[in-house]
Amino acid sequence: MKPMETWWKESVIYQIYPRSFNDSNDDGIGDLNGIRERLDYLADLGVDVLWLSPVYQSPNADNGYDISDYQAIMDEFGTMEDFDLLLKEAHEKGLKIVMDLVVNHTSDEHEWFVESRKSKDNPYRDYYIWKDGKADQAPNNWGSAFSGPAWKYDEQTGQWYLHIFAEKQPDLNWENERVRQSVYKMMTWWLDKGIDGFRMDVINLISKDQAFPDGETHGGAYGNSMEFCCNGPRVHAYLKEMNKEVLSKYDIVTVGEAPGATIEEAQRYAGSEENELNMVFQFEMMDIDHGKYGKWSPMPFDLKKMKANFKKWQEGLDGRGWNSLYWDNHDQPRIVSRWGSDKKAWRKKSAKMLALCLHMHQGTPYIYQGEELGMTNVRFPSIDAYHDIEILNAYRELVKETGAMREEEFMEGVYKLSRDNARTPMQWSDEAYAGFSSVEPWIGVNPNYTEINAKQEIADPDSVFHFYQRLIALRHTNKVVPYGTYRQYMEEDDNVYVFTREYEGQKLLVACNFSEQPQTVEWPDALLEEGYTPWIGNDSLKPFEKAVTLTPYEGIVWIKEETKKA
Ligand code: GLC
Ligand code: CA
Repeated sequence: MKPMETWWKESVIYQIYPRSFNDSNDDGIGDLNGIRERLDYLADLGVDVLWLSPVYQSPNADNGYDISDYQAIMDEFGTMEDFDLLLKEAHEKGLKIVMDLVVNHTSDEHEWFVESRKSKDNPYRDYYIWKDGKADQAPNNWGSAFSGPAWKYDEQTGQWYLHIFAEKQPDLNWENERVRQSVYKMMTWWLDKGIDGFRMDVINLISKDQAFPDGETHGGAYGNSMEFCCNGPRVHAYLKEMNKEVLSKYDIVTVGEAPGATIEEAQRYAGSEENELNMVFQFEMMDIDHGKYGKWSPMPFDLKKMKANFKKWQEGLDGRGWNSLYWDNHDQPRIVSRWGSDKKAWRKKSAKMLALCLHMHQGTPYIYQGEELGMTNVRFPSIDAYHDIEILNAYRELVKETGAMREEEFMEGVYKLSRDNARTPMQWSDEAYAGFSSVEPWIGVNPNYTEINAKQEIADPDSVFHFYQRLIALRHTNKVVPYGTYRQYMEEDDNVYVFTREYEGQKLLVACNFSEQPQTVEWPDALLEEGYTPWIGNDSLKPFEKAVTLTPYEGIVWIKEETKKA
């Protein structure tokens, strides 16, 4: 079935992590006016939509993903007037703004929770999930995604509250209709201000199995809560309700973060006939290199796993839903270090190959700040230089408390897959602190900013930045890029990824070499067609022949246009 054409399918979305993007008032913390100063840079890159990680009032236990007031701006980021000006100027430049909606949980400093914890008969008590424990024991064995138990005992009323994430992030009780109505009202307030959509934080966790059964421990101290929280019993009903009461009234874009979502679930969340969301961020791809202790025990990259995952999702949503396409975000390491190569010889080339690969798929691509420069992972000298609560809690539990991992072993995981890799300041120039601020930033700058920075890349026509610019432009001018039907070839090849895209008389043949060696590709018969001309690539463009040798990390696209009959 042909996908329905619409603006958000033809858009490229750029994610900003405000804390690390640009500091306008020299306190070492990025802010809203800092974003405003860089709107021309973003417009020049050519992206259509900016997604802002949370900018709301927050005590920052999890960098803004713990919100204490949904209708106020975090002091460090500016004021509501600054926000309104940012929205206005962005719109004037043709850029839309998507807000992060974090409503699986709030901060424990949110007024609703402050009230809720006061007494069992407080009107806000049922805004959160309170349970009796057994003697001194939590209501069940669930572990938190940030280590330790998922329940916290509260002296005042002698009950426990659920927090799937940090203690300071109590889960909202979506079973309570008043909670849902309060959330919808808040969403409507933002949409009426003129924002262009929502990225919804862990939205597939909002409906919990109301029996709250113990989870599998897999030999660890805590049970897995995810099978009772992810894609829970009423999640689709809640999203349909949200869609009906709020989303359907506006011309906006929505994307749900959905860890643990299978393709079957995604067909429902992002199904074009389902009236829930436009698309979801899936995690199956992001988990392919996780080992025994998840991200703390990285596994070697396996291209075949990646290819199998693309095939499943591209085919599974074709004509019935829509994919989001991403390599990086604030929770993932830098893709060039992860599945490309950040060695000097290959960084630039592999960053371009990865960009080409992702942007040639069907779906809406997301670019995370700095990805368009080929920014890399960082290795801070010791654990003390890290800030992320996920890293620090896991370090305490796995290294200090249980001794399950040796320090050096754990740090390798941190270097390869931890979230702070993505959170170092944006590298604007080779000036002090990478031009992000004039004072020492809240988190260390990646020392490679002297070589990798926006100023230098803008000046260099052959840079990663300009390659992204071209990819974005091609998506805007050729419908085969967003909409084309996907087909994969040579599935068994360990090094090369080959696929085609077809739409209304245009056909693309994409080939990417994920290895550091040249690879000679002999095309299967089905691909041996006449009429392909080279279209875009990260090496000198070569003609399409029976056998083609791809250079290390080469990515290339050939195009074929159906000759119009006279
Ligand atoms: C999401 C966010 C992540 C945050 C977590 C809890 O996964 O992307 O940054 O820590 O939810 O809100
Ligand atoms: Ca600032």
